[in-house]
Amino acid sequence: MLRWIHRTKLSVLNTVWILVPVVIFVVYVFPETPQSGGLSAVQNKFALSECEKRFPELRKRVIVKDSTKEKCEKRFPSAILVGSQKSGTSALLQFLNYHPQIAGCINPDEPRYFNTKLYDNYSLDWYRNLMPCSTSDQITIEKTPEYLYGNTSALRIKKLNDKMKILIILKDPVTVSISVYAMWKALNLSLVDGLSFEDAITKVDANNRKVIATNKPVVYVSTYNLHIPTWLKLFSRDQILFLDGNMYEENPAQVLREVEQFLKLRKFFDESQFVFNATKNKYCFSTNLTSAGECLHASKGRKHPYVPEELKNMLYDYFKPLNLELSKMINHSFSWM
Ligand SMILES: *[C@@H]1O[C@H](CO)[C@@H](O)[C@H](O)[C@H]1NC(C)=O
Ligand SMILES: *[C@@H]1O[C@H](CO)[C@@H](O)[C@H](O)[C@H]1NC(C)=O
Ligand SMILES: *[C@@H]1O[C@H](CO)[C@@H](O)[C@H](O)[C@H]1NC(C)=O
Ligand SMILES: *[C@@H]1O[C@H](CO)[C@@H](O)[C@H](O)[C@H]1NC(C)=O
Ligand SMILES: *[C@@H]1O[C@H](CO)[C@@H](O)[C@H](O)[C@H]1NC(C)=O
Ligand SMILES: *[C@@H]1O[C@H](CO)[C@@H](O)[C@H](O)[C@H]1NC(C)=O
Repeated sequence: MLRWIHRTKLSVLNTVWILVPVVIFVVYVFPETPQSGGLSAVQNKFALSECEKRFPELRKRVIVKDSTKEKCEKRFPSAILVGSQKSGTSALLQFLNYHPQIAGCINPDEPRYFNTKLYDNYSLDWYRNLMPCSTSDQITIEKTPEYLYGNTSALRIKKLNDKMKILIILKDPVTVSISVYAMWKALNLSLVDGLSFEDAITKVDANNRKVIATNKPVVYVSTYNLHIPTWLKLFSRDQILFLDGNMYEENPAQVLREVEQFLKLRKFFDESQFVFNATKNKYCFSTNLTSAGECLHASKGRKHPYVPEELKNMLYDYFKPLNLELSKMINHSFSWM
């Protein structure tokens, strides 16, 4: 019986990982006509990535590289940011992409290739063509936070390249559960339809007491100790970089330098590039690369539900031992532990 419940919950979850992508897929992927085997490589060789379109300064950078006669090409990512949801994956890629050796601004923002039907329907070449054009000293990187869950994406990524560098950014799980709930509410997902935050995270146990329910999707998403073992099993520990999502908001340069070192990039990021904008309550990137410093995006900062302290404390208590377990599992600790 328990096993059956577990399976049912998991299949509900699978539906979400498929449904959310489908909604967004229609918006982002369809502007480009998919063809099996990919778009003409020649036609796309010099296509501007979304990033280059948004920031002409970055385009100049590519042109300067072109003067060395090197052709810019679409390459497979050699690093993938796989999660977690609502932990700052967009914000990390947003600033990381200023590094001259990173080709990370992609259209769509989240390819969702390995975790969806796209993988069955379209070739690896098609996937490669979603990537931005890059030169040989650049590392192509994509991010899709849904890759973290289950083992489908991990297995497929390993099949593409068993030396893939895996990046995982994690925010404190209480905040993540609240943000995920807010996001699913905003998207009108049936998973949280009509459910208060409390109902979305609790169940009544045999003693008629309200307890946190691991298998409820809003909790499951941030129960990291359930998701990380798959990655540790399939990839060696030194292929995986764990980053602190809370730290990233407080000191983006420090976290970006961790990525720099992990990917063996030239030293580029330092604190002087980041200016705290008190009005926005966020860090903005400001060098000559950008005309008007770009700030960590606020657009996705959805309004969080009101969560009573008592409920928050229940969540903290639930996650506390699990965080410890995670920390032992990966020999790494986070500011939020
Ligand atoms: C994949 O192909 C099937 C069958 O042609 C189609 O029904 C489905 O919509 C496709 N899904 C995606 C995500 O492309
Ligand atoms: C992947 O997960 C499924 C379902 O949990 C499990 O049955 C299967 O053994 C896993 N495969 C690998 C290679 O870990
Ligand atoms: C969700 O439902 C509300 C109320 O029906 C509607 O106003 C809103 O546009 C919907 N949002 C999405 C993303 O579909
Ligand atoms: C901070 O952000 C506000 C709101 O977007 C903007 O008006 C202001 O110019 C920014 N301040 C600085 C110093 O960039
Ligand atoms: C930005 O450009 C100005 C003028 O070209 C230059 O004087 C200044 O040193 C540059 N600042 C940085 C941080 O590169
Ligand atoms: C755990 O990490 C520390 C440094 O953070 C390192 O000194 C130690 O060797 C690591 N232990 C294992 C078992 O990997």
